Amino acid sequence: MTLVIDNIAELVTNDPELGDGPLGVMTDASLVIDGDTVLAVGPSGAIADERLDAGGRCVLPGFVDSHTHMVFAGDRSEEFTRRMAGEPYDGGGIRVTTEATRGAGRDALWDSLQQRLIEAHRAGTTTVEVKTGYGLSMDSEIELASLAAEATPEATFLGAHLLPSEYEGRADEYIDLVCGPMLDAVRDRVRWIDVFCETGAFNTEQSRAVLEAGRAAGLGLRVHGNQLGHGPGVQLAVEMGCSSVDHCTYLSDDDIEALAASDTVATFLPATDFSTRQPYPDARRAIDAGVKVAMASNCNPGSSYTTSISFCIAMAVRDMGMTIDEAVAAVTVGGAVALGRTDVGRLTNGGPAHVTILDAPSRHHLAYRPGVPLIWKTLGADYRLPTAPDPN
Ligand code: NIG
Repeated sequence: MTLVIDNIAELVTNDPELGDGPLGVMTDASLVIDGDTVLAVGPSGAIADERLDAGGRCVLPGFVDSHTHMVFAGDRSEEFTRRMAGEPYDGGGIRVTTEATRGAGRDALWDSLQQRLIEAHRAGTTTVEVKTGYGLSMDSEIELASLAAEATPEATFLGAHLLPSEYEGRADEYIDLVCGPMLDAVRDRVRWIDVFCETGAFNTEQSRAVLEAGRAAGLGLRVHGNQLGHGPGVQLAVEMGCSSVDHCTYLSDDDIEALAASDTVATFLPATDFSTRQPYPDARRAIDAGVKVAMASNCNPGSSYTTSISFCIAMAVRDMGMTIDEAVAAVTVGGAVALGRTDVGRLTNGGPAHVTILDAPSRHHLAYRPGVPLIWKTLGADYRLPTAPDPN
């Protein structure tokens, strides 16, 4: 059964050969899909078995959320409230979530993960990366890795998220566990390995050991870096050829130069800077220097409890110096590059029919109407939802 989405005021394809500018924007367009596949992108008036009248709305590729920590239990709203009253964020709350997650049980973790995925789908996200990292023990990390892998092809092992309290003073021993038995137990379930390389988490040598072990296990590499201050994360990510280094709130001139000369994507997570009262990263400076950028939600209970990519776009445009088109690219094709994907993040013939339809005539409304639930419909997804993926 084919479906034509017709009467599209503005269609963002992310293929410059199909339309105007880098986003390949077409006006008065239609999109024909067959199940999960795009059959044709063209002018309005195409014929198919069924018709969805977009009513002059804007259609985009589904958002690619390339950084989340969606498998967890517990609530840290009190910590957030204290932070809004002036308490600084140092990442120590990860242990609070670890305790709640270890005791939650598989069914409760699965149910809450599913709820977050439904929420993300309603917010226009059709590809999502999910990290472990709130288990920090063999059994719990295995449980989280298997839940993440059941939900999405983009599952990441983040055993080196923070030192669990039972390893206090024995960080190198914990790193040996992460790089050895833990990695062995999860390597077949995940696509990526990640490490929090930051003062208070893991140092350069420990982080390099994690990335080297991940690479030897055949995993792709990612780093959390330069979130809470200037540090070695970005340089290490570039040195190791990571697909992405995420946060990048604090970038030195040397960091920018190294990123620009590399294939490593700088992934900005502005909802984190919002929720932790950090400064926003200077995306303009990075983009002007030639750095490849992406942007993601970082959905987690401590530093960024949101699945809203629209919210990230609004911040990027208002406070990070990105144009609306750069922000839209960062959450679609940028996220795809950060995940090493060439299929998602665009709408082209033969590609996946992962589609976000705004209840607005143009992409500009994503920044122009902050805080408004602008997603009219989301079609398709490459993660697992409990029901047919049309909860709108
Ligand atoms: O990306 N930086 C480390 N990890 C998460 C924070 C998790 C938490 O506070 O629970 C982040 O911000």
